[in-house]
Amino acid sequence: MTDLIGALSEAVSAAFTASGLGPEHGRVSASDRPDLADFQCNGALAAAKAARRNPREIAAEVVQRLTGDPRLASVELAGPGFINLRVSDGALAARAGAIAEDSTAGLTPVAAPRRVLVDYGGPNVAKPMHVGHLRASIIGESLKRLYRRRGDDVLGDAHFGDWGFQMGLLIIAAGDEDPRWAAVGEDPAGRADDPALADLDLAILDRLYPMAAARAKEDAAYRDRARRVTAELQAGKPGYLALWRRFTEVSQVALERDFHALGVDFDLWKGESTVDHLIAPMIEELKAKGLLEVDQGALIMRVSRQGDKRELPPLLVVSSAGSAMYGTTDLATVLDRKTSFDPQLVIYCVDQRQADHFEIVFRAAYLAGYAIEGALEHVGFGTMNGTDGKPFKTRAGGVLKLQDLIVMTTDKARERLHEAGLGAEASAEEFEDIARKVAVAALKFADLQNFRGTSYVFDLDRFMSFEGKTGPYLLYQAVRIKSLLRKAAETGVAPGTIVVAEPAERDLALLLDAFGHAAAEAYDKRAPHFVAEHAYRLAQGFSKFYAACPVLTAADEASRASRLALSATTLRQLEIALDILGIDTPERM
Ligand code: ARG
Repeated sequence: MTDLIGALSEAVSAAFTASGLGPEHGRVSASDRPDLADFQCNGALAAAKAARRNPREIAAEVVQRLTGDPRLASVELAGPGFINLRVSDGALAARAGAIAEDSTAGLTPVAAPRRVLVDYGGPNVAKPMHVGHLRASIIGESLKRLYRRRGDDVLGDAHFGDWGFQMGLLIIAAGDEDPRWAAVGEDPAGRADDPALADLDLAILDRLYPMAAARAKEDAAYRDRARRVTAELQAGKPGYLALWRRFTEVSQVALERDFHALGVDFDLWKGESTVDHLIAPMIEELKAKGLLEVDQGALIMRVSRQGDKRELPPLLVVSSAGSAMYGTTDLATVLDRKTSFDPQLVIYCVDQRQADHFEIVFRAAYLAGYAIEGALEHVGFGTMNGTDGKPFKTRAGGVLKLQDLIVMTTDKARERLHEAGLGAEASAEEFEDIARKVAVAALKFADLQNFRGTSYVFDLDRFMSFEGKTGPYLLYQAVRIKSLLRKAAETGVAPGTIVVAEPAERDLALLLDAFGHAAAEAYDKRAPHFVAEHAYRLAQGFSKFYAACPVLTAADEASRASRLALSATTLRQLEIALDILGIDTPERM
């Protein structure tokens, strides 16, 4: 189904063609003067330049050709050659009616669906998931949902950080902590079922890792020991593998729980370790292709290209200590994904600070023939900062754990709901559910309303307000429509044919029409904020409509039926937009 922008672009392009000018000049966009027009076309200016003609003359000709189109209430020439278009009420009503019938509420499917893999979240074993991974999870989840909604075949992969140096650190830290764990590590049989392992829980990992990481920074001998242990683990030492398995299990259970609480769920929970068995043959193959070089005891792959503005370091494939590195597992993962899912596009939703890492890995993958040039894409983002402008930390100065963040946000949501007198009629259980949804909406919308490249300040009070551009405001509007629909059902008012007459009805219908375009922009630019912006404007549009146009008490039955249908369609589209953002709405509040 085409939206009005699409249909009008076609009509205007045809008019340009009929005047012997390029159809590309007929592109229509939403008007930036809604008081004057719904849509505009500025193409006459460029067309005039190309044809060495007067732009106003061209625009006048196009206007002439479009006059009489039943979809247009008016078409006018303005300024140096702009074309202003106002859609007729009938065309708007028909379009709103079509959206009401459409299962995707106006979302346009992609022309050619692709297999897309979204690599996001990127949590690490033992390092508790912290706010640094929060944006990766929120944005990645949203992209996954957006791509899926538009018809692609999409898989989301957590790409668990479970194979690097931190595993060596943890193995020695655990051994130093408790001789029974040291014994498991050194046992040649690798006793994965040793009862002592049951005591190795999340609390211990959370304590051991920061300790070990801090010590490794200062103590070179400790660091070397951890490097050796990492290499031995990767070489398959049974006792280390037994410990490693326990670490990953404990971490994964906790992480999946926290992610789920945030409305983030992965299709694949593969990790760096998943591709370990591919690394040795991969290295042989890269050697055979002449792509590897020995450099100070390490194996590297050069990826710089002619014309590079600055020199990109090589990919470190095997360290001098004999370990596979972060980039090695990433390269092998490209290979693994090619054989398992063969994605046409891989989106790596990871912090902007890893841009170079990905550029190096991607180039290596293209050189090795593991992916088609351009099929790997890093979608970076800025940081979430504290009020001091630095990456967000807790008051104690540490990174905030995801779980603590969820607890803190939900506490705040409860408080706000009470203050606003919301959820008062809900049972204790339902109230908890509402508070959780408000918390998730606040966190996610605060993030997704910004272009992903922009950094933003963590300000829970602002995020949690029921007024302004916030997640809670959007939930509140959605719930208001739900309650209206319930009341309609109770009083026997049924939705019917949509008619557009009042200005607020026009505006709402125009907003409904704009969804497809917003989602397509978000898709093309890998930027969910276009959908967030649309959701906000739609909620505002509904609020204005509801204030200006009574629904259940409208004068005649046809208006009641029409306005109810507009409301129901708005709700459906709003819920789809929010779902793309990873936000769930409660039934009532
Ligand atoms: N675990 C990594 C980190 O914490 C992020 C992983 C991102 N994905 C990837 N394929 N490298 O920095």
